[in-house]
Amino acid sequence: MCGIVGYVGSAPVSETILDALSRLEYRGYDSAGIAILNSKGLEVRKRTGKLKALAEALQQEPVEGHIGIGHTRWATHGEPTEVNAHPHTDCTGTLAIVHNGIIENYAELKERLLAQGHTFRSQTDTEIFAHLVEEFLKAHPIDAAFRLALKELKGSYAVVLVSAREPHRLFGARNASPLIVGVGKGETFFASDVPAILERTRSVVYLNDHEAVELTVDGPRLTTLEGKPIRRQPTKIEWNLAAARKGGFPHFMLKEIHEQPAAIEQTLMNRLDPAKARVTFDRKTKAFLDTLHANERVIIIACGTAYHAGVVGEYMLEEFVRIPVDVDLASEFRYRDPMLDRRTTVIAITQSGETADTLAGVRLAKEHGAKILTICNVMGSSIARASDAVIYTHAGPEIAVASTKAYTSQVTALALLTLYLAKKRGHLSGAPWRRLVEGLANVPRLIEQALQAEPEIKAIAAKYAAARNFYYLGRRYNVPTALEGALKLKEICPLIHAEGYAAGEMKHGPISLIRDGWPVVVIATHSSVYDKVVSNIEEVRARKGHCIVIASEGDHAIKRHANSLITVPKTEEIFSPIIAAIPSQLFAYYVADANGCDIDQPPNLAKSVTVE
Ligand code: F6R
Repeated sequence: MCGIVGYVGSAPVSETILDALSRLEYRGYDSAGIAILNSKGLEVRKRTGKLKALAEALQQEPVEGHIGIGHTRWATHGEPTEVNAHPHTDCTGTLAIVHNGIIENYAELKERLLAQGHTFRSQTDTEIFAHLVEEFLKAHPIDAAFRLALKELKGSYAVVLVSAREPHRLFGARNASPLIVGVGKGETFFASDVPAILERTRSVVYLNDHEAVELTVDGPRLTTLEGKPIRRQPTKIEWNLAAARKGGFPHFMLKEIHEQPAAIEQTLMNRLDPAKARVTFDRKTKAFLDTLHANERVIIIACGTAYHAGVVGEYMLEEFVRIPVDVDLASEFRYRDPMLDRRTTVIAITQSGETADTLAGVRLAKEHGAKILTICNVMGSSIARASDAVIYTHAGPEIAVASTKAYTSQVTALALLTLYLAKKRGHLSGAPWRRLVEGLANVPRLIEQALQAEPEIKAIAAKYAAARNFYYLGRRYNVPTALEGALKLKEICPLIHAEGYAAGEMKHGPISLIRDGWPVVVIATHSSVYDKVVSNIEEVRARKGHCIVIASEGDHAIKRHANSLITVPKTEEIFSPIIAAIPSQLFAYYVADANGCDIDQPPNLAKSVTVE
């Protein structure tokens, strides 16, 4: 996720900004840039790749000044190129901005600004903001122009602006993307996160959505977007640097589990409109989906966690779009001589977009004339570039090796795809359609509710932490939840062996191992196969196994079947794997934590598997 820094003070400005940006590197990025104001005006430097490249550029051509902004970009709109890197300037080159988030209405604003004669250089949603402020500056002073421009934005943003007209002030604001103010001695900062400034100050002003800030060396001046002053005292930060990088969480994995409501919001943004009961995609993806044949065949390919998302996708697409779907492990698909032709669409699912087997599968499918749609988290990645269309999940960088928010955002992207195709092909309309659209829009809120069970889950995890074998069971949409739950646990707690099964398969073999106290996590949420799952629970309990049951809120009858009970909010069955994933991630996390495991960097595992 992008990193933002703004600086006002007397220290060497480019070094200060570069240093603060380097402390945000953990957020992930693919290009970086800086804009500094001095007697020559605004000087901008940008480079793709790591900060080192920007630092080298600044060494070759140093920039002096006492006020400036910097940015590390994690591409969302437009590939990670130098032109698309931030800061972006207006037509006159006298103001520059950095931005984190997604401006939902950028296309319509861009059209308007183009008609007003503005010239754009990049493919980003961000650049429109610079031109928007420029437009308002024709009739307003800069503080008002900044606030008026903010009022036009829909979506998420943290923005910081520097202007040649204002040599002593920066302007910043946020809505649903992080931005803080640091107040040091004779210097002040904007930053995406506390670690950027912790070496310089522990005095932080947290900003709320829809507040505007003018920042001088003396401190911030906060107002509403109408210009009404707001008083807020700085907070003293007590965390050390390592804790601050993780937002106060002990591990990135836990931080990322808690980021899921926001990550899913980002996946849905611009695509799901519950008010208009509409699901849509960008022009290229829609054009791609329009070319699908009435008898199109779909093959989903992926590895690991992404494969589990693919299994959910199979259930979704077959039930609601009535399209035949096979799901294949990419490492098998590439070597099994699959049947492919022009009426086959291969959907590749990948967080990193770099997994070697998935990439090889995509290339093979292309060679045989199949069409490629990729669901991916990393813009401009190898698999994204090799595809005909891409649905980006926009979950933000995932740092913990064990995938959490990337998984639920992949399932969310598949739900969007399913709803879009089901509506288009006439399989969904009227009240059922509206119910599903509303249900999907509700998912971020339901995840937040599911996260509230954390203390109970932690207590249950402590109870079973000494066990060395676990089963996970589910049916229909929650077979993949069981597979994924077991993978999460064995991944981050290598002392434990865990297996996920379709609950109906138990009696065909695995049940033979069940003995006194053997822990079995069962997903028994509200569904069309609920009674069957309860029977499977009883089969386990008859052999003295212990069932840790994940059930829907309000299901009182389940209590007598469960040794330990975790409840999650009720949802449509199609969305239940997203909600049920939350307790299962937390359970794995707390079992591993109780066993003292290296949760973020488990042995033998890599975040991105770029070799066969
Ligand atoms: C498990 C995990 C892996 C990845 C797999 C595919 O938590 O993260 O199983 O899902 O290596 O990676 P991507 O999605 O990057 O293709």
